[in-house]
Amino acid sequence: MSVNLAGRSLLKIVDLTPEELRYLIALSREFKQLKRDGVPHKRLEGKNIVLLFEKTSTRTRCAFEVAAYDLGMGVTYLDSAGSQMGKKESIADTARVLGRMYDGIEYRGFSQELVEELAEKAGVPVWNGLTDEAHPTQMIADMMTIEESFGTGLEGLKLVFMGDAQNNVGASLMAACAKLGMHFVACGPRKNMPREDFVEQCSAIAAECGGSVTLTEDVQEACTGAQVIYTDIWVSMGEPDYLWSERIRLLSPYRVTREVMALAAPDAIFMHCLPSYHDKNTDVGAQIAGKFGVTEMEVTNEVFESAQSKVFDEAENRMHSIKAIMYATLAK
Ligand code: CP
Ligand code: NVA
Repeated sequence: MSVNLAGRSLLKIVDLTPEELRYLIALSREFKQLKRDGVPHKRLEGKNIVLLFEKTSTRTRCAFEVAAYDLGMGVTYLDSAGSQMGKKESIADTARVLGRMYDGIEYRGFSQELVEELAEKAGVPVWNGLTDEAHPTQMIADMMTIEESFGTGLEGLKLVFMGDAQNNVGASLMAACAKLGMHFVACGPRKNMPREDFVEQCSAIAAECGGSVTLTEDVQEACTGAQVIYTDIWVSMGEPDYLWSERIRLLSPYRVTREVMALAAPDAIFMHCLPSYHDKNTDVGAQIAGKFGVTEMEVTNEVFESAQSKVFDEAENRMHSIKAIMYATLAK
């Protein structure tokens, strides 16, 4: 069956079929090759997109901007400080205005309901650039990175998410792995596991697609023989600062260390969506070090800088995959 995503939004991974996911991953790799070969690909010339950011970003914003330029599109960036959005005009009204001017809308913010409402009202494709619940564009880049690293299909590979598995990236990885027939393991304290109903939904998908979903507090059980060890920051954007002390206490046993990587398969890779607190070279990293005496959080600097670490390939792949997502949904 051929895949046609024209006119569709990308709001969360479970909305895509396994075929659609695989198509986006393959298309991302094609765009990467075109870029590498220096072949121009202004396939969306004459179109314009707008990027709405209620939370900060480096990768997602730059990936959308560079991808749009490469495809020949115009781009506008709006945040809460530089527009009426959120203060004098609701997101829903903003969406309806922007839908009259732009061919596609990226939204990064807090509420998943809001990005879904935006997609309903805008009349043009809406791409979720991260909400409190989901980070779907990150998933296409991540799966592409895993495929490139192993040079094989994704089916049957074991991916372990260490730490705050209830967050947007942990939950989205669970969905993506389930759809692609991979074995997803969330490894962390019970309190930080993904929502129960979502675990059930993804377990059912995984069972259909030949994969599995496991939740465990046991690092050894989780990481033994894994191909991918993935982690993310312990306090996500929008969460209150007072959570740091509890999260450091609960999640420190789940830090990705050299010992954790040694449990995994010999050719295992380390992944992180970034940004990461792997040293004291950030304002937050320095503050946490001063207050709690912790100098490396979700991953040690040694693992982050190791040959097994694919974090910068992953970051680059955000651009190629966002290009694929925009092309698949905007081209006729
Ligand atoms: N991974 C990711 O979404 O990074 P940014 O927050 O910098 O966009
Ligand atoms: N869980 C992180 C992901 C950042 C890309 C956050 O939401 O802040």
